[in-house]
Amino acid sequence: MGAVSFYTIILSTNGVILLSPSDIDISALESRLTTAKIGRPMQILAEIDSTNEEIGRNPTLPEGAVIIANQQTQGRGRQGRSWYSEPGTGLYLSTLLKPDLPSEKLSLITLMVGVATVSAIGQHSKLKWPNDILLNGKKLAGILCEHIPGTTPVIIVGIGINLNQTRFPEDIQDIATSLKLETGKTVNRADLVISLLENLDHEYEEFLQGKNENLIRKWTENSDLFGKTVTVQQKGKSLTGSAIKLDPQGRLVLKTPDGEQHILDSGELLAAEADSKNPFSTEHRSQR
Ligand code: BTN
Repeated sequence: MGAVSFYTIILSTNGVILLSPSDIDISALESRLTTAKIGRPMQILAEIDSTNEEIGRNPTLPEGAVIIANQQTQGRGRQGRSWYSEPGTGLYLSTLLKPDLPSEKLSLITLMVGVATVSAIGQHSKLKWPNDILLNGKKLAGILCEHIPGTTPVIIVGIGINLNQTRFPEDIQDIATSLKLETGKTVNRADLVISLLENLDHEYEEFLQGKNENLIRKWTENSDLFGKTVTVQQKGKSLTGSAIKLDPQGRLVLKTPDGEQHILDSGELLAAEADSKNPFSTEHRSQR
């Protein structure tokens, strides 16, 4: 007999049917959460196009509101790619931040979310600039931060983590992985949600307090990028050099063989020796 899933059905005030899969039961999560801001309130949806889209449709939600979906039909990644969102196995979560800060500080949010996520995942997972988390060289998680312009900045933070998938579609199977595939163990999604939201709450509070040096240090400690030769693709051009450090704004400092330093504020980081086994060299989906 196949596995049986239990669901709690909740009818929300706006008529949306919230189906709470038993392993991430909303009331159990709420009773465990000790955060000040993140996850208050929290919603779990059985299915949605994209949790980022859903937050975007509700920008008046309070700061810290979290939406988790058991499955996404149009999960989105960076640069217009899709995010593979199989039902019940991964974590698909978005939150809303409204930091009252100048726009030049906002690029650090992706790094702040990366630090919170990598430490919730553990297992020696590594940050890849600017927004990926890798385990054993394959993509385990991705972060998509979207800015809604306006007088007070509104940032939608989307986090996708591959947890209990046991296989991936052919086009990404060489570049994507899950915690279950890497460790052989089934991940308790509720534990991971709690740990992620607690970390986010803490890192966001430090970020608002301007503890940016701390953030850059933690990001650097959780990445194995520095000292390596990397190629970064930006606006159709690519630049190869040694990854030196992140500057205080979270930009990547790259030293090219001519001795010049380049400061990159965005881009796609590719491995230096591109070959068919290169985990970052395949197009299509965003799990890279
Ligand atoms: C990337 O690596 O390109 C970013 C992937 C972000 C995926 C998450 S899953 C939850 C949230 N909803 C989305 O549609 N995307 C983000």
